[in-house]
Formats: sequence, structure tokens, C-alpha cells
Amino acid sequence: MDFTAIILAAGSGSRVGFDYNKVLHEIKGKIILDYSIEFFQKYPSCKEIVLVCSDHDFNFVFDRYRSVADHIIIGGETRQNSVYKGLNKAMNDIVLVHDSARPFINSACIDALCDDLESSKATTLAVPVTDTIVRKSGNRLTKTLDRNELIALQTPQGFDRHLLLEVHRKAMKSKYDATDDTDLVRRFSDVMPSYVMGDYRSMKLTTKDDIALLEVIL
Ligand code: CTP
Ligand code: MG
Repeated sequence: MDFTAIILAAGSGSRVGFDYNKVLHEIKGKIILDYSIEFFQKYPSCKEIVLVCSDHDFNFVFDRYRSVADHIIIGGETRQNSVYKGLNKAMNDIVLVHDSARPFINSACIDALCDDLESSKATTLAVPVTDTIVRKSGNRLTKTLDRNELIALQTPQGFDRHLLLEVHRKAMKSKYDATDDTDLVRRFSDVMPSYVMGDYRSMKLTTKDDIALLEVIL
């Protein structure tokens, strides 16, 4: 199923604490963003790449990817805003939204995600939760959640483009800000998103400690 990849790189990586955007950090001779771009460039049903970066990184990103990305645009204040800007450039009926901060992408997972899109208008990669997750109040533990009912979402997430645009517009009107797009679909449409199994190696670079793990994974 042909799709547009919307690759998000417009954050600042504040939690990692570098004085530059974390997705520009180099691991094994490539910068984090290269891994996602190269994956989608090679994946046969990816027919269009929309790359969303920050104002600050625009010149560097444009010089590096002008020949591989169909659109290179400046993102927004929030991740959700960056997705929305990317969506407005996408041409295909199906879009895959990917956080470039997840540089490891397993092509078998993308195959499965695309298969799921044949029958689902909103789907995500996700992995079972392995830690015990507990609700807290201050520093007190109040309730252990049932692990069998929990799943940790990854990206890419795949959508019917028209549906995603519609829920983004509704979210903007209600001033609702989500950290992922399946949340918007659940809240602002009657579609129930699905998931397919992701890969634990597709971790998100969030803190400095993640660098050492990615050095091994990539
Ligand atoms: N992102 C984006 N536009 C934003 C914020 C985030 O495109 N305004 C992207 C990031 O570049 C990243 C992905 O969304 O690839 C996931 O966000 P996150 O891990 O939170 O990255 P940052 O926001 O850059 O990091 P932090 O929250 O630590 O500042
Ligand atoms: Mg962030």
C-alpha cells in the first residue's frame, strides 16, 4: 500500500541536554535522522517523504536531504503541530508518521503495519510493557496497573490521511495537545485505532543514557 512518510525532526531534544538537536547526534558515522530517511527512501511503497525540521536546523537539513525528501518544511511548537504541518504537504491517502528520534526501524514491522492499514484507518507499532507500572500520588504508590492491559506505543503510526487531518483540526479547535496521533483519533472520531507488534530495539532517544544502547543496536 503506497504511503507518504512524515518524518518528524522538529524538536530540540531538551531532555538529552546536548547544545544541538538530538536527532543530529552522530552514531556509527551517521546522524540519528539519517537512519529514518535512508529507511523510507529504500522502502518500496514509500512514495513520498515529508521531512519536518525546526527553523534552527533548516539550512543544515535542507542541504543534506534536498535530493531525497519531497518536502522539507519547518515544524511547529509541539509535536502535534509539526505533524499537522507535515500532513498538509502529504499527497497519498495513507500516511506513516515517524519520530526520527527512533532510528532503528525493522522492515518486517513496517510490512505488518502496512498490512494492518488494509483494514484499519489508524494503527501503530507497539510493544508489551515489561516493567510493573504503578499509579502514584506524590511519592506514594496507589495502584498497580494490570500489565496485560497495557501496551507501549512506538512509531511509525499509520493513518488514513483524511481521518488524521480531520481529528487534528478538531483537536486544534479544542486546544487539545497529544503526544501521539492515535490519541487524537480515539478522542475526535469513532475509529478505534489498532496496533501491530513493534520491536524493542525501536527505542526513542530521550535521555543521554539511551545513546549507549543505540550504539549497540544500530
Ligand atoms: N518533534 C517535532 N516537533 C516538535 C517536537 C518534537 O517534530 N515541536 C519530534 C522530535 O524531533 C522527535 C519526535 O517528535 O523526533 C518525538 O519527540 P521527543 O522525543 O519529545 O523529542 P524532542 O521534543 O526533541 O525532545 P524533548 O521533549 O526532550 O525536548
Ligand atoms: Mg518533546
